[in-house]
Amino acid sequence: MFEKVTKIAQEVAAFDISNKEQLEQFRILYTGRKGQIADLFDDIKNIAPDQRKAYGQEVNKLKEQAQAKFTQALEQLDASVGNFELAIDFSLPPVPHTMGTRHPLSVVREEIIRIFERLGFNLSEGPEIEDDWHNFTALNFPENHPARDMQDTFFVEGDMLLRTHTSSVQVRVMENEKPPIRTLSPGRVYRNEAISARAHCVFHQIEGLFIDENVSFADLKQTLYYFVQEMFGKETKIRFRPSFFPFTEPSAEIDISCLICKGTGCNICKHTGWVEIGGSGMVDPEVLKNCNIDPEKYSGFAFGMGIERITMLKYQIKDLRLFTENDIRFLRQFESL
Ligand code: PHE
Repeated sequence: MFEKVTKIAQEVAAFDISNKEQLEQFRILYTGRKGQIADLFDDIKNIAPDQRKAYGQEVNKLKEQAQAKFTQALEQLDASVGNFELAIDFSLPPVPHTMGTRHPLSVVREEIIRIFERLGFNLSEGPEIEDDWHNFTALNFPENHPARDMQDTFFVEGDMLLRTHTSSVQVRVMENEKPPIRTLSPGRVYRNEAISARAHCVFHQIEGLFIDENVSFADLKQTLYYFVQEMFGKETKIRFRPSFFPFTEPSAEIDISCLICKGTGCNICKHTGWVEIGGSGMVDPEVLKNCNIDPEKYSGFAFGMGIERITMLKYQIKDLRLFTENDIRFLRQFESL
């Protein structure tokens, strides 16, 4: 019986532990609850009673040795993980440094601003929480007039509301500046609409305003024609469709030839060959009067476009919700812009 103890003691002494796998192997074979040392203790019942004490001492000694070897090996292996020289392979290529990217809406907003900047437009901003005057009344929406329902409004308190368009900024500019005015107002707007692939209750607009002596509809057309060609490419056509806005007269919806099918008809343009990008028109003389600008002397045009819509058309994005979900796989696609 004692030979068995000696044999296992020799094995334990010779066992090489230089990695975690070998350590685990050692534990299973010797020190674990079902290991060979536990078996040696079980064998004690087969030992002659007068030798049991000596046998027990031998096995205990072996147990302590094995346990000590185990603990020492474990400490050594743990230490080597914290040891940088051993843990880091300096020949590996470095992990690439990832940089943040600009949001596609910011990229497109910048691009639109750059184009109109070349035509002499400056930038103006205004509050997102507006009063009724700047969002509606000054823009010729009479009180209780159904035109106010064109834009489902979030009301805040009293006559305060979340602006439904950035035309409110243009009122502020007209109130505070003298013509000539050439300004662009980008910003976030709010409408009480259910969120879907095509609509959102928060989105971005960019509106332009041009006021001077003798400004005509031809100037409006030429300005937007220039914009469309710069933004979407020289082959893009533009068309004006009669429309209605309380603050412009005449008013026109701006369509461009479909970028996907080039005007031959597809799903995106609902087989018409045209897609709408915004509204426009000659500033209504009533609006000029409301802002203390003499309509006898000055005239002007205004236009407004959705930045989401322009971005979706330009990059063929089919669902508006992608802009706010912040899915890194979507955003990374605009890394190079
Ligand atoms: N403010 C209008 C809208 O949000 C767009 C527009 C702006 C139309 C300027 C005409 C002139 O629907």
